[in-house]
Amino acid sequence: MRVTLPTVADTHAFGRRLAGVLHAGDLLLLTGPLGAGKTALTQGIGAGLGVLGDITSPTFVIARVHRPDPVRGRGVALVHADAYRLGDAADPRAEIDDLDLDASVDDSVTVVEWGEGLVEQLVDAHLRVRIDRRDDDTRLVELEPVGGDWAARLAALA
Ligand SMILES: Nc1ncnc2c1ncn2[C@@H]1O[C@H](COP(=O)(O)OP(=O)(O)OP(=O)(O)O)[C@@H](O)[C@H]1O
Ligand SMILES: [Mg+2]
Repeated sequence: MRVTLPTVADTHAFGRRLAGVLHAGDLLLLTGPLGAGKTALTQGIGAGLGVLGDITSPTFVIARVHRPDPVRGRGVALVHADAYRLGDAADPRAEIDDLDLDASVDDSVTVVEWGEGLVEQLVDAHLRVRIDRRDDDTRLVELEPVGGDWAARLAALA
């Protein structure tokens, strides 16, 4: 599935729509270059799930738990991790293990930026989301189902 997102507002809206097919236990792997819009998409997903706290690019913390808003939320937390800063680590896999994502993955939607090759083993299926920036500054999003029922869920989204 491919979608063109002209503005950051479109990316937020798409994240909200995507949240409609997400549930606890899901893992999303966001890829794409610096400034592509991975965090912007995560903000939309967070809004769609109704979670608390601003979704930002953390400077030091590399994973943050956003709890569901008791009123607006769907009862599912969003775990947002950004492994960019692990790029230089001697053993990035060990650093990821320290985050204990496997302890929260079953009860949350887990969204990981820069996590390729590091977090796929957390669950037996995941959704790959690739965002690319075009010359005209619009974004192209490609969603690739990897196992599970992701293909059917994307079909429902289309
Ligand atoms: N269509 C669009 N979708 C998303 N972001 C857009 C779009 N058009 C412009 N932008 C801008 O691009 C930037 C995207 O930043 P964002 O932090 O989401 O990227 P990122 O992929 O998470 O980067 P990083 O790899 O550094 O974490 C924002 O400043 C946003 O306003
Ligand atoms: Mg980011």
